[in-house]
Amino acid sequence: MASKTVTRALRSSSRQAMTAVKRPITQRSLTTAALLTAASRPAVARSTARIAVPAIQSRGLKTIDFAGVKEDVYERSDWPREKLLEYFKNDTLALIGYGSQGHGQGLNLRDNGLNVIVGVRKNGASWKEAIEDGWVPGKNLFEIDEAINKGTIVMNLLSDAAQSETWPSIKPLITKGKTLYFSHGFSPVFKDLTKVEVPTDVDVILVAPKGSGRTVRSLFKEGRGINSSIAIFQDVTGKAEEKAVALGVAVGSGYLYKTTFEKEVYSDLYGERGCLMGGIHGMFLAQYEVLRENGHSPSEAFNETVEEATQSLYPLIGKNGMDWMYEACSTTARRGAIDWSSKFKDSLKPVFEELYDSVKTGKETQRSLEFNSQKDYRAKYEQEMQEIRDLEIWRAGKAVRSLRPENN
Ligand SMILES: NC(=O)c1ccc[n+]([C@@H]2O[C@H](COP(=O)([O-])OP(=O)(O)OC[C@H]3O[C@@H](n4cnc5c(N)ncnc54)[C@H](OP(=O)(O)O)[C@@H]3O)[C@@H](O)[C@H]2O)c1
Repeated sequence: MASKTVTRALRSSSRQAMTAVKRPITQRSLTTAALLTAASRPAVARSTARIAVPAIQSRGLKTIDFAGVKEDVYERSDWPREKLLEYFKNDTLALIGYGSQGHGQGLNLRDNGLNVIVGVRKNGASWKEAIEDGWVPGKNLFEIDEAINKGTIVMNLLSDAAQSETWPSIKPLITKGKTLYFSHGFSPVFKDLTKVEVPTDVDVILVAPKGSGRTVRSLFKEGRGINSSIAIFQDVTGKAEEKAVALGVAVGSGYLYKTTFEKEVYSDLYGERGCLMGGIHGMFLAQYEVLRENGHSPSEAFNETVEEATQSLYPLIGKNGMDWMYEACSTTARRGAIDWSSKFKDSLKPVFEELYDSVKTGKETQRSLEFNSQKDYRAKYEQEMQEIRDLEIWRAGKAVRSLRPENN
């Protein structure tokens, strides 16, 4: 149904774009409009050695109606750069760990002009990467304990397994007056398993970007901001929320959605095991295998399972929603898809219930900690990755991708 769908979808898309102008602005179009405005503005003159710091546009949203439920959403216009610099003028932000998030958040903080230092294991992969990114040993790059000692705000961006492993040596350094920051609720929420029992006399806050650290960085460089969750685990100063919002903006967030540590970690672990990766991979495999068992060629099975989904339909669903997608496809596709979606929902819902339960009870955390703290966890992952790479579906996919117009 590919070509039919796309042609109709595109036609309908431009129709919709024209009618959207006449409609009152919804929360969704406000977000989009704001981002477009941000992207189209020129960068301000203020710059650092690395990049021209992008303009921060003004937006005034606070409480947004999400399908009838009102939620607080902070946005960065309340925190222009001058205010951030003033707010954090006496702070040293000690960013511990320089993986995906450390890299993105650290460089954004530095480009925003804040006093940020990095703490990682000397001569590890992250140490070398930090030097390549311009962090200087002894100046703003230190070993973990030294960085924590120098910091007033300790941003724990080690991998989740490493946060648990290193906690006995880190905890005594988080002294009264410091702030402890996470980008995932994992360690404190599952403290019975991780043993990350936070000190009772410090603010404990969370800013969790809804995307990889690379995206945190690339959106910042484009003058846009990533959506992030913020949450407070412990507020001893009465300023924890304010600090979380300010830090969220400083690391490169555009909109900050208020949640709790528990909800952040439950939804995150659930989502990545479900529709974001695990569930969708399972569905791809099941559909592909049945097509192959019924005599379809690898290319046909792949095109009808993955290629059309990722290249045509999913981006349109992302842009316009599922209701729009149904309307944009043929009546044949629409009839069958609506009928079968309830069958899939009914059979999958118990699996999702089991998954949520497994997350909430800590079973997923235990599995993750046990697996990812093994000495040979990288080698074990590599073996699993090779098995996935070797699956016919992904080998067929490689050939299909090579035939995309942009690759010729
Ligand atoms: N990645 C994402 O997309 C994402 C998105 C939102 C939130 N988060 C959260 O952000 C936090 C950081 O995640 P990440 O993905 O950026 O982490 P990551 O890429 O896995 O970072 C690993 C860092 O931990 C260090 N590390 C690993 N084992 C260590 C040990 N035993 N002792 C000392 N350091 C150790 C590594 O240093 P070496 O190089 O020296 O090994 C590296 O700097 C996590 O809480 C995660 O859940 C991640």
